[in-house]
Amino acid sequence: PFKPLVFSGVQPTGNLHLGNYLGAIVNFVALQKSHDCIYCVVDMHAITATLVQPDLPAQIREVTAAFIAAGIDPVKQIVFNQSRVSAHAELAWVFNCVARLGWLNRMTQFKDKAGKDRENASTGLYAYPNLMAADILVYKATHVPVGEDQKQHLELTRDIAQKFNNDFGPRIAELGLGRGEAGGFFPAPEPLIQPQAARIMSLRDGTKKMSKSDPSEYSRLNLTDDADTIAQKLRKAKTDADAIPSEAKGLEGRPEAENLVGIFAGLAGKPVTAVLQDFGGSQFSAFKQALTDLAVERLAPVGGEMKRLVADPGYIDGVLRAGAERAAAIAAPIMDEVKDIVGF
Ligand code: ADP
Ligand code: NA
Repeated sequence: PFKPLVFSGVQPTGNLHLGNYLGAIVNFVALQKSHDCIYCVVDMHAITATLVQPDLPAQIREVTAAFIAAGIDPVKQIVFNQSRVSAHAELAWVFNCVARLGWLNRMTQFKDKAGKDRENASTGLYAYPNLMAADILVYKATHVPVGEDQKQHLELTRDIAQKFNNDFGPRIAELGLGRGEAGGFFPAPEPLIQPQAARIMSLRDGTKKMSKSDPSEYSRLNLTDDADTIAQKLRKAKTDADAIPSEAKGLEGRPEAENLVGIFAGLAGKPVTAVLQDFGGSQFSAFKQALTDLAVERLAPVGGEMKRLVADPGYIDGVLRAGAERAAAIAAPIMDEVKDIVGF
């Protein structure tokens, strides 16, 4: 039976954190039931900001281990690293010629990551969204589980698919490669965003996204943190002086409180309203204790399993090798068709 195809990726840039877990990986695990899934360690994206990374091989294995420890089945689904399937780079080049400069100039993530010294950002960082579009479309994937920060890149992916379909429309029709009534070659993939965990914020500053690159270790829970570290970081997490409200309205203008309640909801797999019903009126100290217990219960086993898996690099490398072969087998015929369409 036909199952819709999911693609998503995580960068092996170290410090895998709770935002990556609740915003993306938990969703990856859930989608296995209803979809065929391709989960990629996007190592080519990882060198856009920092070129030389001596720990890159270890970081690739760590993300792979996180996928498996969280519950992704690497036999039923496809788990691999991007650089091993050359079709990603080939299609990205075509997309560099499809996407317009004006489109990329609007990408807010480039502005954030390039910072003030934009002239010194790599051209790879600038063109990153084109490679991301290729990652997805080289499999003709239709669903992409991501955090909210990736929504704009997904819109660009759809714009690229549409322009390719339009510009090459006559050629696609001539070759008989169009799908459905619209006759387009590429689908328009949709983001799948977890509402409770769309945007997990820093534990030190509720207005900044929790991120791998934040210099403060106390800003994030890393997936490999042990129980004591999780407890210590949550104890130090910034809060305000008011109690937990019993309705979502009471979280307005309280970014730190809203973030911790959102984290609880994400970890518990409950809507925020249910968490507020349970804790409304409680002081933060009591809520933080319950959050710590839940975070330890949910995260410590994942971290422990990750450590066990990375201790067996032969196993991880075998998973990545087998996954790359299966991914390449799907991508190669699609890339051959792209070459026919373009005229290579
Ligand atoms: P990072 O943004 O930490 O560098 P990636 O770019 O590899 O990590 O993102 C991997 C996935 O994790 C993406 O789907 C992204 O949207 C999601 N993600 C990253 N940070 C957060 C966050 N703070 N809250 C929710 N999702 C997040
Ligand atoms: Na990101």
